[in-house]
Amino acid sequence: MEIIVADKAGFCFGVNRAMDLALEAGEEKPDSVYTLGPLIHNPQAVEKLTKAGIKQTDNIDDVGDDGVVVIRSHGVPPGVIASAEQKEIDVVDATCPFVKRAQQKVQKLKEAGYTVIISGDKNHPEVRGILGHIDNQATVIEDESDFDELPKAKKIGIVAQTTQSVDNLRKLVNHLLGEIKQLEVHNTICNTTEQRQEEAAVLAQKVDVMIVIGGYNSANTNRLAKICQENGAKTFHIESAEELQLSWFKNIKKVGITAGASTPNWIIKEVVKRMTEEIKEQSTESEELFARNEIVTGVVKEVTEEGVLLDLDGQEGFVPVAEFESETVNEDLTPEDELECFVINPDKEGQVLLSAKKAKAWRKVEELHEANEIIEAEIAREVKGGLVVDIGLRGFIPASHVAIEYVEDLSDFVGETMELQIIEVERENNNVVLSHKVILEAEESKKKQEVLDSLEIGETITGEVTKLVDFGAFVELGGIEGLLHISEISWDRIEHPSVVLEEGEEIEVKILDINKEEERISLGLKQTQPDPWEKFVEAYEVGDIVEGKITNTVEFGAFMEIESGVEGLIHISEISHEHIAEVEDVLETGDKAKAKIINIDLDDKRVGLSLKELEEKKSTSNQQQSNKKSTAVQEKGEEGIAKIGDVFGDLFNE
Ligand code: F3S
Repeated sequence: MEIIVADKAGFCFGVNRAMDLALEAGEEKPDSVYTLGPLIHNPQAVEKLTKAGIKQTDNIDDVGDDGVVVIRSHGVPPGVIASAEQKEIDVVDATCPFVKRAQQKVQKLKEAGYTVIISGDKNHPEVRGILGHIDNQATVIEDESDFDELPKAKKIGIVAQTTQSVDNLRKLVNHLLGEIKQLEVHNTICNTTEQRQEEAAVLAQKVDVMIVIGGYNSANTNRLAKICQENGAKTFHIESAEELQLSWFKNIKKVGITAGASTPNWIIKEVVKRMTEEIKEQSTESEELFARNEIVTGVVKEVTEEGVLLDLDGQEGFVPVAEFESETVNEDLTPEDELECFVINPDKEGQVLLSAKKAKAWRKVEELHEANEIIEAEIAREVKGGLVVDIGLRGFIPASHVAIEYVEDLSDFVGETMELQIIEVERENNNVVLSHKVILEAEESKKKQEVLDSLEIGETITGEVTKLVDFGAFVELGGIEGLLHISEISWDRIEHPSVVLEEGEEIEVKILDINKEEERISLGLKQTQPDPWEKFVEAYEVGDIVEGKITNTVEFGAFMEIESGVEGLIHISEISHEHIAEVEDVLETGDKAKAKIINIDLDDKRVGLSLKELEEKKSTSNQQQSNKKSTAVQEKGEEGIAKIGDVFGDLFNE
């Protein structure tokens, strides 16, 4: 049974640091150090701390005046540290720097007026700590089942719990993309977690059984176990080596081991030891000295016309003449020479049956794989699920790796020479997998980078509309696609991109933003056309009466189109002198209305309108009517322009 331990198993940087800081504090002030909650989610590690005289409490009042409190890597709300400092208790802050980053991000988002969403588990102490940094003013969304709790807002900022799954965060962002005008996403998922999860997923696909080690109450260990299961391995979650059961490994060839971020290395070592020593010993399987598909080196004992006899550490091995490259025995071989061979059969009538040519071929394939080299090979035949090539060994190209797009009929490729890259080598399973697709993708990505490097923000270029979607249009820019968001298509409010654009159409667009790392380009079409706002400010001023159509009603008011591409807001408090419960009681989308301009905000390009001021106008004297501009000055302050906050309160901040 082969045991593979994941590279990224066990203590992460943050937990390691927290353990070190706690043990250091314990040495300096024995019996005075407390951790606030269990320092890490692993009972064995907690026991180690207890033995070192470090106590655990949930209440800061338990810590004496000369005591020390250790904040664990999950972090805490700022109030906890403040109350410890108020009591003059020493604080050792072992909050992981990655958690700190998430805490700072939410604060910044809140200060910038964003409605904050935390992608994570609302009951996890890390999430409670992050929430505490913004007075609990955020919505916590764990996965799709929470989507109906999503807030409605124009500006949404997202951060993630450091141990959140990338998939959950991606689904949340995709759900909001296109819905929210201003969406700012901070991927605060810890890299270590991401790498650990990716590695576990890959390992789980290769083995029959996965052992996941870590505390049962550790969120990241539970997630690891789930990922392993989802990737096809029979998965067992254990806390220690004692829980291993012999029956799990019956007739099993490969076992993978991974461990959560709070699992100490000594526990992983104990598990591996127990599996290799005890379980292997007790296994009823009879082990042979050599394994099939292994590469071994033997010493030549005798060269005959039929082949070569080798000594393999006391066991006899034989290479038939047909198993040499030229199908004749190398004449230079003499007794005592060393020869590398591939094991075809570990026990053929008392001898190990070997192949010299297969050993050479495997070595070559392994080298090419290691160097990521591109080779050329002729497609030999089509088989179920892909194509077969002869590269000295049988190589398999899965159908999904023949081209970037799905290919329905593979038979056309038979007999053709194809550029290929070896993507998987598993000698023990006689498996070599090749891909043509990865070469095409690398070329495509290179081309994309070249186009990205040649583009500049602010530049106007021609592109072709390739796809219309609800939230915008994709535009091909000669090797890379850019996104033209619906809000950037027209100065007018449009229901769907198809109102203005057609697939296949060539358009001139302005480059608004380039994200080289994520290969994303944001485009604008309306920016290539005159801005109606400029015409508007030249033609109108505060106090003017305007006519227009109601384009939308919301809880706090109604939007009215004054000119094509310019809308003003009639706040609910500006509709009538009478109390209005619902905007729709008075105004409906499509209604025509007459309103007075009470505010023009040049910075934010916003116009405030009032209906009630016109009601007032009906009952005022003729003299007041002729002095409408001076009335506006009196009502709205000395500068004659009302501040947006005077009219809308803090609605825009919301
Ligand atoms: Fe920190 Fe990442 Fe570990 S957030 S505590 S290094 S899992």
